[in-house]
This record gives sequence, C-alpha cells and structure tokens, in this order.
Amino acid sequence: MLLTRNRRRALLAGVVTVATAALGIGLSTQFASAQTTLRGAADALNKDIGVAVSYNLLQNNAQYRNTVATEFNSLTAENAMKWDATEPSDGNYTFTQADAIVDFAEDNGQSVHGHTFVWHSQTPSWVQGLSGTALQNAMVDHINTVANRYEGRVDSWDVVNEVVSDSGGALRSSFWLNGLGEGYITTAFQTARAADPSADLYINDYSIEGDNAKSDRVYSIAQGLVNQGLLDGVGFQSHLILGQVPSDMEANLQRFVNLGLKVRITELDIRMTLPADATKLAQQASDYQRVANICKNLADCSGITVWGLRDGDSWVPGVFPGQGAPLLFNDDFSKKSAYTSVLNAWGGTVTNPTTTPITTSPPPTGSGCTATLSVQSPWNTGATYAGTVRANQNLTGWRVTWTWPGSERISNAWSIQGTLTGAAVTGTNVGYNGTVAAGQTTTFGFNITKADGSTASVPTVTCTPI
Ligand code: XIL
Repeated sequence: MLLTRNRRRALLAGVVTVATAALGIGLSTQFASAQTTLRGAADALNKDIGVAVSYNLLQNNAQYRNTVATEFNSLTAENAMKWDATEPSDGNYTFTQADAIVDFAEDNGQSVHGHTFVWHSQTPSWVQGLSGTALQNAMVDHINTVANRYEGRVDSWDVVNEVVSDSGGALRSSFWLNGLGEGYITTAFQTARAADPSADLYINDYSIEGDNAKSDRVYSIAQGLVNQGLLDGVGFQSHLILGQVPSDMEANLQRFVNLGLKVRITELDIRMTLPADATKLAQQASDYQRVANICKNLADCSGITVWGLRDGDSWVPGVFPGQGAPLLFNDDFSKKSAYTSVLNAWGGTVTNPTTTPITTSPPPTGSGCTATLSVQSPWNTGATYAGTVRANQNLTGWRVTWTWPGSERISNAWSIQGTLTGAAVTGTNVGYNGTVAAGQTTTFGFNITKADGSTASVPTVTCTPI
C-alpha cells in the first residue's frame, strides 16, 4: 500500500533536512527547477492543492481522471461522503462511491480531506425526524462508522459544516441545534477524535473569509474546542464573488492560526456574472492569485481545495442563477488564466499554452509514430508521468515500449493498456485513443512507485503503429 500523503510529507521533510545538513547548501537539485503542475508546486511548498471530485466523472471520464491525478495532491468527495450518500437509511451504510474516491486517492499518492459528518443539508429525513437521545445516538453511530472505516486513509475531516447563522451572532437554527442543544458540536468533535485520533478535525463554514460577525462566532467556538484539545483546523469554504476577496482575509486567517490552528481554503470558487469575458477572467485570475498568496504566506495554511475541476462541473450555475465560470479549467480541460495565476503564486511555471490547444494539423513528418514521457509530479516514493504519442502517419493503433533503468514500476495507468507493471513495459492504445491522424497527438498517463528518494527517470520510448 502506498503511504498516505501526510506520512509521505514527513519523509520528504526529513530528506530535505538531511540533504541540507550533509551538503551544507540549499535544497537538492530535485527541487531547484520550477514546477509545471499545481501538484508539483504544492508538493514543493508542502501544501495541499485539492479538488472536489465527482464519483461519476472519475468512473467515466479518463481525461478527468488524468487531470485530477496530475494536477492535485488532495481530494475531497463533492457529495459521496455526505450523510445522504453514506447512510441513506438508518444503519444501512453505502460506501461504494466514497471507497472509489479514497482508492483513487491512494493509488495516486493523494491525501483526502473528508467532507462532512454533521450538516443541516444533504442529511436524510430519517435523521431530521429524530430528537434527543435518538438523534444523538444516530450522530455518534454515523461519525464512528464513517471515521472508523477511513481511519488512516482520510487525513482530515470537516466534522461540522455551516453551524453558524448567516447573521453571525448565533448558532444556525437547525434540527441539530433544536434537537440536541448547543452541546452537539462538542459531542461531534469528541466522537470524531475518539474514532480516529490521527485525523485532523476541522470546523468548516462560508462567508467567514473576512473578519465579521460570523467569523467572530466561529472564532469563539474554535477557542472553546481548542481548549478541550478537540480542534485542529478551520475550513474557510471561500465561495467567492468576482472582485470580492475580503481585504482582511489574511489577517482574519492569521487570528485563527494564532489559536494554534491550521487554516484551509476548503471549497474555493470565484464566480462571475455570465457570460465570461476577457476582463472578468483577468480579474478572476488576480482574485485567485490573492487567495493563493494568502495560503502561501501562512505556514499553517494546510492547503487550498477548489470546488470542482472544470467550470461545467461546478455547482454554481445551479445555485446562483446567471453566475458561473468559477473554476481553474475550461470544459475541454484547457487551463484558464486563473490556473496560471495560482501556479505562479505557488512558484510554478506553465509550459503548455493556457488556451485550447491548436487544432490545425501540422503536415505529416514521416512514417510511424514517436512517443515521449515526461515527469509531471515527482514525490519521494513515486511520480505521475504523462506520455505523448505523435502520429507521423494516420494511425489506427499504436504500441509503445520502454525499459525502466532503475526501481521505477508502474502502479496504475490510464489511456493505455498492456504489460505495464514490470521493468520492461509494453503498452498499447485503449479503445478511444488508437485512431490518430497524421500530425496529431494523443496522450496517456500513469503513476510509478520508486525507491525512496531516487530520481524519476525519463526512458526513451519506441513507438510502433499496429
Ligand atoms: C454542493 C455540491 O457541490 C453540489 O453538487 C450539491 O448538489 C450540493 O452541495 N457548501 C458545502 C458543500 O459544504 O458541500 C456544497 O456542495 C457547497 C456549499
């Protein structure tokens, strides 16, 4: 089994320290070149860059899987870990979707930020109809069952979500508050702490990015929980409006850090009135850059999770009519300028064009095909690679072969099949990427495991039409 990211991170930090001490100079050259993916940049900063994922898209869309694996080092289930998904009726737990997401994260060396145990929304009516002891028992059983199942695999949990009222002065009036009284929050945290002592526990809410009545109330709840040793972090959802990143956001997050807590941007999106245009997209890129800089500036900001991959995947248009285009990727998986600004803010550099790839074909340049591999994102004991096959003639299928010079071995792959897991690799196209017109390219990808600390090599690939 792969190490969880938290453990991997500890190893990474250890290696850097040793290298620095032994050589008496800065970081080893592995860290010197600019990162070209969000994931690479986040790894180098020892932060999470996360994405809220949909079970259906992970199942059905290879390019979605590829982008999620390549660009992000942390996952959150957009819906699959919520109560209505995991325990739709009393005591009947359904983990198919949540398991698939955690398995994907583990296969790809990604951490998981769990979302969420106690919320007034997306909780089935059988729970909402309970009160008193029965409601408390249901809550405790639910937290115990879900937290125990993912102990050691989910790194952190939003234990309670959106418990403060919008006006901010009071706790939200909900079936939780009405049925159990204010103590339900402490009970939820006590239960989660006991169920998985290794997980970081978060309180999560929206419209608390700036210093205001609502964030003040979250602050006082956080203080109380910290005093009992029950809280590790505060999640700032950050469903933001174009041009409205609060000017005091960094100072506000800092006051939570001063309580000894981590802070995390848990559900970032920045929406605009549709249609998008160049001016709005430039403003959005600048807004994203500000948020990325805030998290970079705070050592105790554990990371940023964006609430969906592509604009078309976002919940925003369905909930805020006329609003949208809030994320980092276009629907064709091309990168928006907001992507570039986050990557740059975290020290990376874009190598690919940020717009849709050119679709006109260059003339054929010969016969056969050529293929290359590139390391997208290395970590101590593994790496994500991208492979490109270029057709020099019209292809209806292709085969690529190479041999790993060292300890590298493929652990999982997408858009390629064959004899993949040994030192000698032979892979062929899958159903949808075998036909490639002369001058065009297609891609595949995979993750490897490798000896701890070794450099991920880039073998020469032989490509043959089949
Ligand atoms: C949203 C999801 O994105 C939607 O797919 C779903 O229909 C409703 O919930 N705050 C939260 C998230 O904590 O769980 C919400 O996610 C967005 C607002």
